[in-house]
Amino acid sequence: MTARILDGKALAERMRGDIAAKIAALPYRPGLAVVIIGHDPASEVYVRNKERAAAAAGFAARTLPLPETTSEAALLGLIAELNADPATDGILVQLPLPAHIRAQRVIEAIDPAKDVDGFHPLNAGHLALGLPAIVPCTPRGVMRLLAEAGAPLAGARAAVLGRSAIVGRPVAALLTAADATVTLLHSRSRDIAAECRRAEIVIAAVGRAEMVRGDWIAEGAVVIDVGINRGADGKLRGDVAFAECAARAGAITKVPGGVGPMTIACLLENTLEAAQRRRGPG
Ligand code: GUN
Repeated sequence: MTARILDGKALAERMRGDIAAKIAALPYRPGLAVVIIGHDPASEVYVRNKERAAAAAGFAARTLPLPETTSEAALLGLIAELNADPATDGILVQLPLPAHIRAQRVIEAIDPAKDVDGFHPLNAGHLALGLPAIVPCTPRGVMRLLAEAGAPLAGARAAVLGRSAIVGRPVAALLTAADATVTLLHSRSRDIAAECRRAEIVIAAVGRAEMVRGDWIAEGAVVIDVGINRGADGKLRGDVAFAECAARAGAITKVPGGVGPMTIACLLENTLEAAQRRRGPG
């Protein structure tokens, strides 16, 4: 079988167009504040892309850059201001934070109704319970790509590789809510290859370049690659050995052009929905 490529870039562009049309019809402009501390090069690229995409879709988007030396108290003060600001519908603090700031303390300071990353324990808890929640952007994008693949989820065996708070755990919760049978695999799991081979759906979010090999993939499986690994040559590689896996999969994403663009489109959806809940559907 030669896999169908799930084109996240094209799908994300369609979503961004739909979001822009919805915003154009609103009597207000939804506001997104993106906070970045210091000068991590990857974070600066991500934040620039988020602000650009938000502005292009019609959000009142602003980036608030703070110096590396910013204290935790000062950051918490800024978050309190943004929580109280009626024009700010979504707050995103780019991670990772410098070591002297407790990231969990910062995440928990964000108003859960404005937590467009879906990282606050209230949103994570609701998601884990199968209740309505703001869903983290990358997991939301993964589910949208699975919908695009047309793969039935109810009763399907799904292998999720990686148990991070940002991707693996919420993806496992969403697949569970969609009635899949989920196996959450991680660095201490035995027989990862055999577990994957039993799965009709494989989600790779481990951060190890090309770890998932072709012989891990069942014939016809749907494979979603969340990995973004920059090699010594500067090239981006996913967690999936693409050519080998595409030879067996039914549908598969590429890196770049798969999950990455979907993350930003889903951030915009989260922000629009947060605004509509706060200020009305328009
Ligand atoms: N760093 C890497 N991914 C993310 C994300 O989705 N949100 C935030 N805030 N920081 C990140």
